[in-house]
Amino acid sequence: MEGFQVVSRGPLTAPLTGEVRVGGAKNSALKLMSAALLAPGRTVVTNVPDILDVHVMGHLLEELGCSVTVEVGNGDEGAVVAGRAVIDVPEELHPEAPYDLVRRLRASISVLGPLVARCGRARVALPGGDNIGSRGLDMHLTGLRELGAEVRIEHGFVVAEVPGGLRASNLWLDFPSVGATENLVMASVLAQGTTVIDNVAREPEISDLCGMLRAMGAVIDGVGGSTLTVEGVDRLVPVEHETVPDRIVSGTWAFAVAVAGGDLTVAGGRAHHLDIVLDKLASAGAEVSTDSADGFRVAADKRLESFDVVTLPYPGFPTDLQPFAMALAAVSDGTAMITENVFEARFMFAQELARLGADLRTDGHHAVVRGRPVLSGAPVVAHDIRAGAALVLAGLAAEGTTTVAESHHIDRGYPSFAEVLSGLGADVTRIDLPDPER
Ligand code: UD1
Repeated sequence: MEGFQVVSRGPLTAPLTGEVRVGGAKNSALKLMSAALLAPGRTVVTNVPDILDVHVMGHLLEELGCSVTVEVGNGDEGAVVAGRAVIDVPEELHPEAPYDLVRRLRASISVLGPLVARCGRARVALPGGDNIGSRGLDMHLTGLRELGAEVRIEHGFVVAEVPGGLRASNLWLDFPSVGATENLVMASVLAQGTTVIDNVAREPEISDLCGMLRAMGAVIDGVGGSTLTVEGVDRLVPVEHETVPDRIVSGTWAFAVAVAGGDLTVAGGRAHHLDIVLDKLASAGAEVSTDSADGFRVAADKRLESFDVVTLPYPGFPTDLQPFAMALAAVSDGTAMITENVFEARFMFAQELARLGADLRTDGHHAVVRGRPVLSGAPVVAHDIRAGAALVLAGLAAEGTTTVAESHHIDRGYPSFAEVLSGLGADVTRIDLPDPER
């Protein structure tokens, strides 16, 4: 089993210096690839990151009848290179997404809306995904029912049928779910009439998706706000669209400097997508400069002060960056209260962080973290993408050797994470670890 090995003498002993370039957002690219299904012909999604999930999504689209080429690889721009997905979509799709692909990628559920819209029916296996909570689909399914589809769960599949085509409706979401917003927007762009969706998610990835859909000919009002108005059209056309830069990867690099110390330029990172995060790091004592046209810079040469975090839908503090905030709190000066409001099981990470000597307690969706000057290297396990990357960063603040098992999770979100970190001056390598199941 592959893992990461991190060797450190503690925070600020091996500052991270240099520049990293941030590629396209995983959480956008995968949905943009799904959106291609809405228009027959060739769609090209550019700036896709070089991660396994993009290839899995490519295979899924092939299963649905498309021809897909994903071009990624190391080029002139350094370790993180923008790739592209070329997707040829036929007139007739095969609207069945099998379990063996869907279970590898929760974002596969985003093909449901486009398939129902294009084909009037879809059979999509119920997804698996990260170990970070129950992750219901009720809002996706209720919304499709409101648009006229008959939806049922059958033998592990979501089956949706609407022989006469989807019809516009007034919808609202109980919670601004990212996935439900995406599915329902993609379903309603081809529905008959004008659909209004209230309490939608406002993440930059949603605006990116709506931007692509508009370029394809969709009529969508209210992008970036809490209510979207979608006027259905008969047909969309394929386009070329560039994926928005990954704000979670950008934020990860900001936390990397905050935890380990150093001076890093995050090229391509959009500071305005990380307002709360960068403000908090600056108030804690980091130096943050956002005046460059291409990215931002974060520097830290001392131990930062603790700060509280409450995760919320965008523009609140992102749940995907919460593990990094917890890792930073573990070595900051003072006590931090961390409240997780989006994914209840994210605190599984706290147990691993405690193995590195962090002083923390969790109770329900709150965690209290008392900062220590240094953590202590130990073997730990990555349970999901962000927890895995956060453990690597915690390892940079831990004296001795930390091994992070199940590092394949990290590779799902961060192209060449170990290699990029070592290029910045950290001692991080890939190693073979014994398989615990044998
Ligand atoms: C997406 C991101 C994930 C990020 C999350 C929140 C992708 C591939 N993943 O996940 O990295 O952490 O947004 O920013 O883009 N829920 C329900 N019923 C539903 C839908 C959601 O109960 O029908 C719950 C979920 O269990 C969760 C919360 O709502 O507790 C948020 O989920 P959602 O915003 O939908 O996240 P995802 O789209 O799954």
